[in-house]
Amino acid sequence: METFGTVLSERALNIFMRHAHDDKTIPSVRSFVYDMLGPTPDRGDMLYRYEHSLRAAENAAVIAEAEGLPKDDLIIACLLHDVGYRECGDDFKRHPFFSADIAKRYLEMIGYPQEPLREMVRGMKRQLLI
Ligand SMILES: [Fe+2]
Repeated sequence: METFGTVLSERALNIFMRHAHDDKTIPSVRSFVYDMLGPTPDRGDMLYRYEHSLRAAENAAVIAEAEGLPKDDLIIACLLHDVGYRECGDDFKRHPFFSADIAKRYLEMIGYPQEPLREMVRGMKRQLLI
């Protein structure tokens, strides 16, 4: 499997195993993102990041509707766009690569169709550092 030079923690690999049989729905993806970010009381920054991802997904739904774009693909891409934040440790500049890598592995694992998957992951990898 192609990756972007990231090495995932034991914690992340365990989360992958727990989500191995996820379906391709938005609630499943949301739950995966929540687990990956792990917003525990000592990691309020991850709660902020999770809520930011939900807001991005809400905006994606509005934009997809207005522009006639594939709504679920756009929502799922936005939910996943920062999924690697916790995995990149203190080096937040690397979060687009970790996020794209984790999203790619996850979407492939749950059998997401290849064509939207490629485009979704490409967008995540190129995101600005926000
Ligand atoms: Fe973001």
